[in-house]
Amino acid sequence: MTVYLIGFMGSGKSTFGKRMAARAEWQFADLDSIIENAEGRTVNHIFSASGEDYFREIESQTLRSIRQHDNHIIACGGGTPCYKDNMEYMNSTGITVYLKHDAATLIHRLAKAKKVRPLLKNMSPGDLKKYIVAKLAEREEYYNKARIIIDGLRADPGKLMDIIISHPPYNEEH
Ligand code: S3P
Repeated sequence: MTVYLIGFMGSGKSTFGKRMAARAEWQFADLDSIIENAEGRTVNHIFSASGEDYFREIESQTLRSIRQHDNHIIACGGGTPCYKDNMEYMNSTGITVYLKHDAATLIHRLAKAKKVRPLLKNMSPGDLKKYIVAKLAEREEYYNKARIIIDGLRADPGKLMDIIISHPPYNEEH
């Protein structure tokens, strides 16, 4: 079974995903890290040297290259569900979980962690705020297609994992 963890940049997908995986002794993988290892360069470098379109192409290919018969949690990039038909692909091959935060929380977190993110790194605090509010509103259309939506500040990764394992909310055909 594959659990895809989605949500905006700064929502804590990797930390939360690692805790979910630890609870069930499943594998954990981070989509950005798989891409960085395969390309031998950081996401930041891929954006600046090859452009966002190139990144979105390999992001979509990498997502589809993940083996489906393992039990694993995949932490996606913030944009993964919003390009190509990635959200439909994830909903048809696993359980999507949206780790949801409001814009204020994300603004606070990302102000401290924008340097490693190519889409944010050159923004002033005012621009960052406007960008996050607008981008979150745009992306929620995709994020809200997740099978499970959880409050990122309150959810317990271990309990969520117990629920997923005991009542898998997915189509048995997949
Ligand atoms: C992106 C989010 C990043 C990374 C890339 C683009 C986005 O991942 O994939 O910088 O479009 O939101 P995180 O959500 O892990 O920061």
